[in-house]
Amino acid sequence: MSADGGGRLASTIYGAELATVPQPTFSFLRDLIVQRTGVYFDEPKRDLLADKLAELVTANGLTSFLDYYYLLRYDADAERHWGLLMDRLAVPETFFWRQSEHLRTVATVVAPSHFAAHPGRPLRIWSAACCTGEEPVSLAIALAEAGLLSTWPIEIVGSDGSAAMIARARQARYGERSFRQLPPELKAKYFVPAADGDGTFTPVKCISERIHYVVANLVRPSEIEPLASADIVFCRNVFIYFSDDAIRAVIRVLFERMPDEGYLFVGAAESLTRLSVDFELAEVGGSFLYVKTGRRPRVEGREPRTASVPTVRASTVRGS
Ligand SMILES: C[S@@+](CC[C@H](N)C(=O)[O-])C[C@H]1O[C@@H](n2cnc3c(N)ncnc32)[C@H](O)[C@@H]1O
Repeated sequence: MSADGGGRLASTIYGAELATVPQPTFSFLRDLIVQRTGVYFDEPKRDLLADKLAELVTANGLTSFLDYYYLLRYDADAERHWGLLMDRLAVPETFFWRQSEHLRTVATVVAPSHFAAHPGRPLRIWSAACCTGEEPVSLAIALAEAGLLSTWPIEIVGSDGSAAMIARARQARYGERSFRQLPPELKAKYFVPAADGDGTFTPVKCISERIHYVVANLVRPSEIEPLASADIVFCRNVFIYFSDDAIRAVIRVLFERMPDEGYLFVGAAESLTRLSVDFELAEVGGSFLYVKTGRRPRVEGREPRTASVPTVRASTVRGS
């Protein structure tokens, strides 16, 4: 929804006083929200923020955004309010087989290379803002199609900052919109109609039982550090909502925790090159992704050792 559309909607439903967030409350809320969620509302999105928050303001018996700011900051129950806000900020736009070249690269290049190099070591995959689960389910299907899921130790974790999205992912009931890009033969092979016949579909057991879901806020290091040691991280279509500082902070944790030759996939509109990160951009099996090559972050005054990335073509992302 556009910023203007959001403002008009909020004013129609909640009254003109909640149509926009006045200054300086807007700055207070914007800064607090980006600090706790990574999500950044710039000035053009001021009315969109009003639209997102208006329902929470009135649901708490409040009449102004400033009161809601105080609630988030000082209320004894602030953690619960943050959880509800995270649910409200989630943009639940996802579908199976999204950017399928990434799935193909994992199933046909990265996973086979991993097992060739480390036959006994499980392959750990983390879908870091998985929303309602379509992304980790797609990964499991791609690996099953490649004949790897049932024969090799593969762990798949899906996480999201929104507890409501993770509850829906665990429920695993998908309507037609989720299938808009999945080839029909894969839908027929890997999904069955939900038991109560409401028109939704659920993944077959050999897929769903392979995915473990948890709630984890990307901007809280303590929540993502245990997950970030995965060999493959999908963090797609969430950085588009984040401030540059928030993205850098998440990337720092990933770079510190991921193993050498860890592979990071971001969304098509989320190039990290302008942020001068330590990962290297590479083209692998037709996908552009980021590789941790094994060298340490650059220390002031010292050049990093150069490292080559076997099996992939890598070009340094970090600005010189
Ligand atoms: C558009 S969906 C992306 C889903 C999937 N990765 C894809 O590409 O289809 C964005 C998700 O990011 C989640 N998100 C936003 N801020 C987050 C944060 N700080 N920590 C974890 N997840 C967050 C939202 O709850 C939402 O489910």
